[in-house]
Amino acid sequence: MEPLGKLRLGVNIDHVATVRNARGGAYPDPVRAAKLAEEAGADGITAHLREDRRHITDRDIDALMEALSVPLNFEMAATDEMQKIALRHKPHAVCIVPEKREEKTTEGGLEVAREENRLAHFIAPLREAGCRVSIFIAADRPQIEAAARIGAQVIELHTGAYCDAHAEGRFDDRDAELVRMRDMSAFAHELGLEVHAGHGLTYDTVKPVAAFPEVMELNIGHFLIGEAIFRGLGPAIAEMRRLMDEARA
Ligand code: PXP
Repeated sequence: MEPLGKLRLGVNIDHVATVRNARGGAYPDPVRAAKLAEEAGADGITAHLREDRRHITDRDIDALMEALSVPLNFEMAATDEMQKIALRHKPHAVCIVPEKREEKTTEGGLEVAREENRLAHFIAPLREAGCRVSIFIAADRPQIEAAARIGAQVIELHTGAYCDAHAEGRFDDRDAELVRMRDMSAFAHELGLEVHAGHGLTYDTVKPVAAFPEVMELNIGHFLIGEAIFRGLGPAIAEMRRLMDEARA
């Protein structure tokens, strides 16, 4: 099957804020990083306003909404506080993620099937406000079916298990995850959902996922911000873009 369209790259700038917050000052500025990412070819900027504000802050979101020329993908937990913030800003996209205070990063996908009713009511006003609503889930059939039923337009597949298996040299697990994600991308597309993917992707792991014809957007952050230390943010993003295009060709 031919790819369904151009594969977009959303650059997640959370960890620019992590470095800034380590000292509590004003630099490095995530908005400056976002503008640089735009210049380097990012199709969108992703930022996760966590409940504990450990990286991105409310002021960062205000400033990003003001400064960006590309769409903002606002990642948030399904809480009343976050819904109010999203409805005030009306970003292009909202991605609903599970959140636990004690976790280092978003460890798993959202349990949509278990909370179907609540989530359906939660995302309805966001959709009405014109936000494209995405649900971050594991490549799991019941979760995908539930995402479609609650009225999400997009699912983002959690690539963390695939990336961890690669990093730990568990190549059979890695390949099994890839097959699962590929099959579930096709299944989600059949249900009318747009498919995105992200979490933990690196230069070594991006290509097989970028090659799934139904995947329309990848959201990548931590690796790119780390790689920027060595080659600069613009070149780090340009190399990711090149690998994505190569995989897609
Ligand atoms: N997509 C979602 C929904 C996420 O929560 C994250 C991490 O915040 C990412 C993508 C990016 O993951 P990473 O920073 O590991 O590239």
